[in-house]
Amino acid sequence: MLRTRLCELLKIDVPVIQAGMSIFTSPALAAAVSNAGGLGSLGVWQRPLDQLQRDLADLRERTDRPFALNHVVPDLDEAAFALTLEAAPTVVSFALDDAGELMKRVHDVGSLVMQQVHSVEQARGAVSHGADIIVAQGGEAGGYGGGVTTLALVPQVVDAVPVPVVAAGGIGDGRGLAAALVLGAAGVNIGSRLLASEEAPVGQIWKDAIVSSASEDWVQVDFMNDIRPNPGALGYRTRLRAYRNAFTDRCEQRRDELRGDPSEVLAEITRAAQEGRLEELLVFGGQSCGLIGDVAPAAEIVRSIVADAEHALRHAADLLS
Ligand SMILES: Cc1cc2nc3c(=O)[nH]c(=O)nc-3n(C[C@H](O)[C@H](O)[C@H](O)COP(=O)(O)O)c2cc1C
Repeated sequence: MLRTRLCELLKIDVPVIQAGMSIFTSPALAAAVSNAGGLGSLGVWQRPLDQLQRDLADLRERTDRPFALNHVVPDLDEAAFALTLEAAPTVVSFALDDAGELMKRVHDVGSLVMQQVHSVEQARGAVSHGADIIVAQGGEAGGYGGGVTTLALVPQVVDAVPVPVVAAGGIGDGRGLAAALVLGAAGVNIGSRLLASEEAPVGQIWKDAIVSSASEDWVQVDFMNDIRPNPGALGYRTRLRAYRNAFTDRCEQRRDELRGDPSEVLAEITRAAQEGRLEELLVFGGQSCGLIGDVAPAAEIVRSIVADAEHALRHAADLLS
């Protein structure tokens, strides 16, 4: 049976974490992953406070297993953070900048701090401020990410810090989990694969894009940092990886113009959101989408990733005999 020191630390059965992905996560998704033995996460960023309150109650109804609440540091909402501390989940996870002083407040309520980073230097900094777990996220990841790939980043971070390291970015099946463990990681943080789950609260256009695309269709775009310089342009200076389409191509081509006056494109995005067709313009995911061919229940995804990783690790060990 596959167990790592992450399982011991978090009291979970399998070393699989469902990424905190802002409002693209839900109590149903987080609970499905936690109940399958992994660590589900509810993204707090951009979640209205009253909804966060309801979602926390809902999550507690659905699972009594460990879960994480995720915050984006450069855009931290103090009231939402206070609710998080009151809930005292097993893990409070942070992204897009070093949580610094916030870590002590998390430790004071008895929760563990998990910090996502994109470089060795960021990992060292986070551990010096008290992080208990580091997520080393390679640039192939969905959402905001850096430039160094998972394969290059993870072993360097493992060598640099004494705490458990979780690999993120590009992991879409059991072979990815097995590879991450061989690199020295204690587990994986999975985003895109779990967006293509029945429970993920994203629309059909988004799920269809994930299951029908190639890796090269998911590109880092810069115009988002130009038109809305928060949070990717601040903090850890990341770029957003999105599905390439006519809208993203047009915006990338007009970057100089948009930097001067983003109002027209911002209005276009707002209008699309109001009309319920935002996914026609923007959906986010990573290069792992090329590996994903179906939408399945989240628990099934977790189970098959773990079973396939066990198989891959046994196969790898056979190479020695
Ligand atoms: C739509 C989307 C939104 C994300 N939002 C967040 C977030 O709010 N906080 C965070 O820590 N990570 C966020 N991430 C990054 C994930 O935590 C994770 O590192 C990433 O999805 C891993 O790469 P993968 O998509 O290849 O699995 C997001 C990822 C996606 C795809």
